Amino acid sequence: MKEVLEELEMRREKARAGGGQKRIDAQHSRGKLTARERLELLLDDGSFEEFDMYVEHRCTDFGMEETKVPGDGVVTGWGTINGRVVYVFAKDFTVFGGSLSETHAQKMIKIQDMALKNRVPIIGLFDAGGARIQEGVAALGGYGEVFLRNVQASGVIPQISVIMGPCAGGDVYSPAMTDFIFMVRDTSYMFVTGPDVVKTVTKEEVTAEELGGASIHTTKSSIADGAYDNDVETLLQMRRFMDFLPASNLSGVPELPTQDPWDRADHSLDTLIPDNPNMPYDMKELITKVVDEGDFFEIQEDFAKNIVTGFGRMEGRTIGVVANQPMVLAGVLDSDASRKAARFVRFCDCFQIPLVTFVDVPGFLPGTAQEYGGLIKHGAKLLFAFTEATVPKVTVITRKAYGGAYDVMSSKHIRADVNYAWPTAEIAVMGPKGAAEILYRADLNDPEKIQKRIAEYEKRFANPFVAAERGYIDEVIMPHGTRPRIARALRMLQNKEAETPWKKHNNLPL
Ligand code: HXC
Repeated sequence: MKEVLEELEMRREKARAGGGQKRIDAQHSRGKLTARERLELLLDDGSFEEFDMYVEHRCTDFGMEETKVPGDGVVTGWGTINGRVVYVFAKDFTVFGGSLSETHAQKMIKIQDMALKNRVPIIGLFDAGGARIQEGVAALGGYGEVFLRNVQASGVIPQISVIMGPCAGGDVYSPAMTDFIFMVRDTSYMFVTGPDVVKTVTKEEVTAEELGGASIHTTKSSIADGAYDNDVETLLQMRRFMDFLPASNLSGVPELPTQDPWDRADHSLDTLIPDNPNMPYDMKELITKVVDEGDFFEIQEDFAKNIVTGFGRMEGRTIGVVANQPMVLAGVLDSDASRKAARFVRFCDCFQIPLVTFVDVPGFLPGTAQEYGGLIKHGAKLLFAFTEATVPKVTVITRKAYGGAYDVMSSKHIRADVNYAWPTAEIAVMGPKGAAEILYRADLNDPEKIQKRIAEYEKRFANPFVAAERGYIDEVIMPHGTRPRIARALRMLQNKEAETPWKKHNNLPL
């Protein structure tokens, strides 16, 4: 018996050693943790249960039969985060660069299937070079099976990808089909092919960071939803993030205890809007003053900053927040902002997360750069996403709601449930100056006359009451009462049911 126990311990030791001490040291010297160290930080103490530790590849080409490492480059299993179950896999870069073989794929697939069957989230920690080159089509087939499960689980359980090293091929395409991607600054990269291949094919010389570092994917490509300075911070933030997410599309949002009274009034909000309508203010101040304990987890913080998206809580229950940001481009809607917010709204709608929308938008950004870039289609994405969303929707217009952007930003007309406006709201087809200049073109040469026209338009439309008279705004509320109003509205909407005609799926303008 003793020998059998020793044999088990020996096998476990061998698996834990991964690709060997030299490669583990190399991993550490790059500032990266190993796959198991990462899982230890991500999961509650002692909660990780590993599966398939002894799985080895079956490849016999290129001398591979001589190099078998138990576990085969991926550590899989399940554990808990603040007591809630998650399935996990972590690529082990010390074993064939974390690349995916047929058996490695089978380990991942087992976890994906179990997560879906049991309706709990799955988190992948990526640090890997894609399909294992020595295995050829067997590895490609393996990745195909992983992709299939990514798609089947989409909208049923949250899928989170954390990029923690150089990732290529399937190790970027699988994450791309999950709900959220987070990266580690300076040590993680995402590209279809690395700088060496780029140089060979296009002669372009580019560093890994310039091609696919966190600095690119959080600001330019918008592939990543956030980035953190190192492995430890990233994993701790992932623990915080998971507290916001439901286990599945049917579980309902998690409810955390909160000390923040639902009826907390914040009188500083009464002076948030500057007297001058062209002066910016920070919409994030409003968001953090409204949500429980000011705890706001922002998504895509560094991309399209003219719109803010992220998760907060009201009365302990998760909400999704979408808000125009007057501090950046006056909060205008452009292609990037529309795409960013549309994807966020769709995630919330998939997972029964109520949407709270704060509106201060001067319209869509005009010009050839936007039009050539497909503004019509990208703007339509956001319009489509808000319209199709059947989760509880509460909207607060703080200042400008002009033109098409008024309709788009979760207006009453596209099925928002409760629409509030602050007394400072201005709801009109466009700003008074632009409107007067179009309507009274003949007066343009007479500054006094045109000024009078602008004032007339301002008086008629630069207020919330024209919309309120038609019932497009349910109530004009005091800024200091925004939190209690939203909390009550969401409580009232908790059992909302909204019908959508049967369809296979819609045809979102992609
Ligand atoms: C087998 C691989 C590998 C791979 C890396 N390794 N990628 N082994 N298959 N795909 C091994 C290396 O041989 C090396 O082994 C170890 O992992 C570390 O790799 P390095 O190159 O030394 O590390 P680094 O310089 O940090 O570069 C990492 C990398 C690079 C950027 C990931 O290795 C790379 O470009 N790999 C190839 C990427 C790729 O083209 N993959 C195929 C994609 S196709 P030793 O023994 O020295 O430790 C694909 C299809 C999916 O995935 C379908 C998509 C739709």
